[in-house]
Amino acid sequence: MNLEQLNKTAEAMVKPGKGILAADESSGTIKKRFDTIGVESTADNRRDYRELLFRSTEAMRNYVSGVILYDETIRQNAKDGTPLVKLIEQAGSIPGIKVDAGAKPLPFCPGETVTEGLDGLRERLKEYHGLGARFAKWRAVIDIGPNIPSYTCIKANAHALARYAALCQEADVVPIVEPEVLMDGDHDIARCAEVTEWVLKEVYLELYYNRVVLEGTVLKPNMVIPGKKSAKKASAEEVAERTIQVLKRCVPAAVPGIAFLSGGQSDEEATAHLDAMNRIGGFPWKLTFSYGRALQAAPQKAWSGRSENVAAAQRAFSHRAKMNGLATLGQWKNDLEKKAA
Ligand code: 13P
Repeated sequence: MNLEQLNKTAEAMVKPGKGILAADESSGTIKKRFDTIGVESTADNRRDYRELLFRSTEAMRNYVSGVILYDETIRQNAKDGTPLVKLIEQAGSIPGIKVDAGAKPLPFCPGETVTEGLDGLRERLKEYHGLGARFAKWRAVIDIGPNIPSYTCIKANAHALARYAALCQEADVVPIVEPEVLMDGDHDIARCAEVTEWVLKEVYLELYYNRVVLEGTVLKPNMVIPGKKSAKKASAEEVAERTIQVLKRCVPAAVPGIAFLSGGQSDEEATAHLDAMNRIGGFPWKLTFSYGRALQAAPQKAWSGRSENVAAAQRAFSHRAKMNGLATLGQWKNDLEKKAA
């Protein structure tokens, strides 16, 4: 393990002004996204769409530090034969790879899942490193509901995340540690804070027991927000304050940075929340984005599978990337959104 290199990569992933594009949708998920814009999910269409993103020079050069890829994409070439990984590197961004095999039902824990994918991971990491990946992602899913999450679920997921993270570091790949507390329920923000704190405590304990070196990791958590079906909404300031409070209680200062998932927030909410946190400041880590939907919903809609829309889709992507880049500096303003509209 080359800790110096791991730390350098992790720092580059969370460099102020930039953040991560999560473009690692599995075949099932990208099909769902394409269904909403009326595009058939073929390998060529998936390639064309992702090529469009990676060739968005303005976004990629200025606001995207790294891109999380799916197994198919890391092996794909652009239309002109250039490997997609090369396009990302040429834009000065770091290629990464999703390595988990998805969340599977957890026995005796109704409604809960554990993320699988540890078997053979050492060999897969070696191959991905050879293909250019310098960081990886593993997503654990924790749902909030009546009587859940259980300790069983939190413990099993935290342990798997730590096993994954150790294998990554052994292979000189920076692990993105992603324990996602879902925003699907009707719970309030206090319940989200309580569960997120519990989850993060367990995750850092397991990382310690599995000898993971925190300087060579990036955390990808949910923000502390009310469930989607909660009657009580929260202001951006409240989300920011509560999220920072929970993170301060759980995440050691040795962690270089925290890159949030968007998790179903609207594009502008995800930006406003990140911006509000960076305006508060006073924490030891960089706070940035690792958004999937909140970066891609706009370009997907603009593209809608038509080659004549590529430039418009790239503009939509660059706009969201820029807004989130500003949010990493606490310099986003709502009027910038209106100006673009
Ligand atoms: P969302 O930002 O759409 O939640 O996706 C981020 C991600 O990579 C989830 O694993």
